Amino acid sequence: MRKLSIAIDGPAGAGKSSVSKILAARLGYAYLDTGAMYRAVTYEVLSKGIFDEIEIVLMINKIDKDAMLVFVDGEDVTPFLRTADVSAHVSWVSAMAGVRRAMVKIQRKQAEKGGIVLDGRDIGTTVLPNADVKIFLTASAHTRAIRRCMELAAAGQDVTPEGIEEDIEKRDYQDSHRAVSPLRQADDAVLLDNGDLTLEETADAIISICREKFPGFDA
Ligand code: DC
Repeated sequence: MRKLSIAIDGPAGAGKSSVSKILAARLGYAYLDTGAMYRAVTYEVLSKGIFDEIEIVLMINKIDKDAMLVFVDGEDVTPFLRTADVSAHVSWVSAMAGVRRAMVKIQRKQAEKGGIVLDGRDIGTTVLPNADVKIFLTASAHTRAIRRCMELAAAGQDVTPEGIEEDIEKRDYQDSHRAVSPLRQADDAVLLDNGDLTLEETADAIISICREKFPGFDA
């Protein structure tokens, strides 16, 4: 059967990128981490001090995202995408209407041939309203904070679960209350709470959802 487009939305720390990577590898699909794109722009905004929306949009056209790395204007910015500074400012940058328009255009272009897993906040609602399969992946803020804390600690950052939980709740609020493309579950998305599931089990659950919707789907 033809290759599907799979949209995975949900709040910070739900495991979207890890699950999407596993899923894409198992299906032999491409993977687009749209959060990494917003983070790359935020990194450039902060490091180059570009605060004018038109200039930010011009910079977006210099983003080059391969499977796992992000380059802006030839510079590999991947190591800087998850710093506390970028995390604290990314909701502000991603709330700009012009920024979102430019990003959505690139994301649709990448997805036009299908055979792709995209993760983000607005994939099922705005980027690909006709995606074949839409998942809204979530878990409690506490569970998400513990996961993120373990990830950051493994990367050598000095963090506490309390601080991270507060940051996650703040970002959930900002992402779901912004005027343009707020984070919300698409009407036709399947809600998947993976609080008690491992990443592999979450990927299994998504493959089962694909099979239910497309009986010819083979993974
Ligand atoms: O998934 P993440 O935590 O890396 O995303 C970083 C931020 O980017 C998140 O706070 C909201 C924003 N984002 C967005 O607005 N739309 C997307 N499709 C993906 C991410």
